[in-house]
Amino acid sequence: MANPIVLLSLLAIICTFATAFEPSPLQDFCVADFNSSVGVNGHVCLDPKHVQADHFSYSGLHIAGNTSNPLGSNINRLTVDQIPGLNTLGISTVRVDFAPGGVVPIHRHPRATEIVTVLQGRLRVGFVTSDPENQVFTKILQKGDVFVFPMGLVHFQQNVNSGNTVVIAFLSSQNPGVTAIANAVFGSNPPIADDILAKAFQVDKSIIEEFQSQFN
Ligand SMILES: *[C@@H]1O[C@H](CO)[C@@H](O)[C@H](O)[C@H]1NC(C)=O
Ligand SMILES: *[C@@H]1O[C@H](CO)[C@@H](O)[C@H](O)[C@H]1NC(C)=O
Repeated sequence: MANPIVLLSLLAIICTFATAFEPSPLQDFCVADFNSSVGVNGHVCLDPKHVQADHFSYSGLHIAGNTSNPLGSNINRLTVDQIPGLNTLGISTVRVDFAPGGVVPIHRHPRATEIVTVLQGRLRVGFVTSDPENQVFTKILQKGDVFVFPMGLVHFQQNVNSGNTVVIAFLSSQNPGVTAIANAVFGSNPPIADDILAKAFQVDKSIIEEFQSQFN
């Protein structure tokens, strides 16, 4: 027989993890009240008497984004900021358009797992593990293919189609956050000292300064 105290402790640990992420709603909904000055984790609930269908809605995700930019991609993110009804529900969505050769540069979402579906085109996707360290899982997706980027892991997307590629993704947070790796490292405000970066990347400071000039 297993020791009941050990079992209870294990259960307590499991429950702690289980409640550590969105969603854990305590009511049907909690539409974000952006006017409230009260600081909470997420947003204060709007009085349900003032809630309307539009708080759960957005129109225009069928519209192609403008990809005429150096990255050749356009991201239309719908988080709690665009759809206040997402507050406390642990989900959000995004449409990404890619021109031929376009990329979403290497980034991570600190608070979300992402599941992406290709609606049109061909997309190279991949993520990098932390354990085992720095193993890349990569694949070329066709129309209708789905891929998962596990929570917090560094990942990338590149259009390998001769025409445009369009994807839609869902993320397991109302506010997934995004850290673009190059911008965080070379475009921070204020800049990270170049001798720290030169040592970290094992290159000359002049190379670091060239990177910094690209991201400022
Ligand atoms: C916030 O305040 C503005 C101006 O008073 C009002 O128009 C808007 O409807 C309010 N929004 C919410 C979510 O209460
Ligand atoms: C797309 O963006 C480019 C660069 O900002 C701009 O010159 C162009 O007019 C835009 N195209 C459309 C259709 O909005």
